[in-house]
Amino acid sequence: MCGIFGYIGNKEAKEILFEGLRRLEYRGYDSAGICVIGEDGSFTRLRVRGNLDVLENHIAGAQMPGKIGIAHTRWATHGAPSEQNAHPHTDCHENLFVVHNGIIENFSQLKEELLERGHEFSSETDTEVVAHLIEEKYEGDLSIAVREAIKEIEGSFAIAVVQRKEPSTLVAARRESPLVVGIGKDEWFVASAVPAFLSRTKEVIFLEDDEVVCIGGDSLKITNLEGFEVERQAQEITWDLDAAEKSGYEDFMLKEIYEQPRAFTDTLADKFNREGDISLEGFLLDKDYAKSLRRIVIVACGTSYHAGLIARYLFEQWAKVPVEVEIASEFRYRGAVLCERDLVIAISQSGETADTLASVRETKATGVPVIAVVNVVGSQMTREADGVIYTHAGPEIGVAATKTFTSQMAALAVLALHFGKLRDALSEGKYGVITEALRGIPDLMEEVLSSDEQVKECAHRFSDCDDFLFLGRGISFPVALEGALKLKEISYIHAEGYPAGEMKHGPIALLDKNVPVVAVAIRDSLYEKMISNIEEVKARGAPVVAVASAGDPDIEKICDRVLRVPESMELLSPPLAIIPLQLLAYHIAKIRGCNVDQPRNLAKTVTVE
Ligand code: AGP
Repeated sequence: MCGIFGYIGNKEAKEILFEGLRRLEYRGYDSAGICVIGEDGSFTRLRVRGNLDVLENHIAGAQMPGKIGIAHTRWATHGAPSEQNAHPHTDCHENLFVVHNGIIENFSQLKEELLERGHEFSSETDTEVVAHLIEEKYEGDLSIAVREAIKEIEGSFAIAVVQRKEPSTLVAARRESPLVVGIGKDEWFVASAVPAFLSRTKEVIFLEDDEVVCIGGDSLKITNLEGFEVERQAQEITWDLDAAEKSGYEDFMLKEIYEQPRAFTDTLADKFNREGDISLEGFLLDKDYAKSLRRIVIVACGTSYHAGLIARYLFEQWAKVPVEVEIASEFRYRGAVLCERDLVIAISQSGETADTLASVRETKATGVPVIAVVNVVGSQMTREADGVIYTHAGPEIGVAATKTFTSQMAALAVLALHFGKLRDALSEGKYGVITEALRGIPDLMEEVLSSDEQVKECAHRFSDCDDFLFLGRGISFPVALEGALKLKEISYIHAEGYPAGEMKHGPIALLDKNVPVVAVAIRDSLYEKMISNIEEVKARGAPVVAVASAGDPDIEKICDRVLRVPESMELLSPPLAIIPLQLLAYHIAKIRGCNVDQPRNLAKTVTVE
């Protein structure tokens, strides 16, 4: 939620700030703003309601001299999207400016106290209290003032601050919201995420909770809440800028759909050693530990939750361990009973999702270990979990998760296989066959992607429908859920995912000729049952789009459109079957004129409850 960016260096800040903001736009886009501080302590601040195109128009002709500044793209939490509520926010005298990502939980109380002490507020945001708090604490050293202010703040924040009285100092701090420092040649950046400055440097430092970084006078100093200096080594980011740009595709989402074979391959790559054995780290390697496992509990939100539902089949079938899959926002408040030999797996693309993070903390408090399956390196969840398994999908910019979903399946499949082997639940032979099949998935994904034209034609046929039902059985049921989620989030069409066998207990009443049914009808162990369900749908006059196996000649006779996927092992069919559904949602949304990368009301990273 919200992207923050700060620059200090030897170049004019305006363009650099805007360029960085563009790469953070996926984090929020209902309002935006920039503030640049001149060498003489002058300032120019521009804020708009609307996305970065609107901001670009405003700043195009504007004179904003200065080599230091901060910028923000917003996803509203406190106060409606408006120019007044857009960041950067300021103090009573327009001396200091703040951008913020996160939520100040005690802001009402702080605001009341600040008002009593004579401060004047000009927005409805929680962020503005930060500006006034720093104003009160300021005695000539911005870094100290920020540190003293954050001691009074409860909640999550990543902030970047500039002050006109110190026109060559940039200060930033964080707690629970992401903040990364980029170190260039005679220039520094602070940002919510690495892509913001990836075109300028790959050398980064990830700040820890309650750390304050002060950059100025050619140096960078990190201090903790007690004011002690903290030594931190810079790391080198390995992905290149191309991975964070559209590379000729019309939208990030389309590019990311097409990147899936590569992302799947990369995710598998570091999990097998040269001998072809799975190489995971830490306690996961311990045979006794694996054998002692009593239950796995998977927690996640949205698309990551769907990946968890798929993984349940793999852990149960291959590793013979019982699995429960929980929506993180429910799990965290349920008082769930966890036992000594349980393992919790938290799945999150961003590694910052508030509910999943809270579930990790709830779990850790019980002493049960947590493994996080995460895409964003260095994100909060990776620091708090007992072990991390990375998906190497690269940056996912489109709000709709695509390549991270299939990469999560790759990572979870490896873990399930690994446990299967350690628990002696899989024979050598079966282990080898599955490993081989898993490695073959990226080529099959390429095949699915090559039939995009059929999907596009299908999208044209159904793009004006207002309701869709997605059906699947067994491991294809979560695929149906994910297909429905993709369609609703980017095209705003009502879509429901349902287990096909459950349809006759209610949703069948919705069916008529205007409600297309998308049936995931792979030739698997439940195929015949699925065909019967399709017949039930046809008998109610609803059109049927089937996602079917390439070698299934009969399905055409009972379906209006068929989207083919190559045959594969049943438990590895989801990363193939989901691709036509991602493409279907994409094309329908485009035909309806929707912004697929930035759907309304959504944000890529949901760092609030
Ligand atoms: C997916 O298309 C959604 N935008 C959303 O459901 C997402 O999967 C969810 O917010 C979880 O995010 P995470 O994987 O970063 O935790």
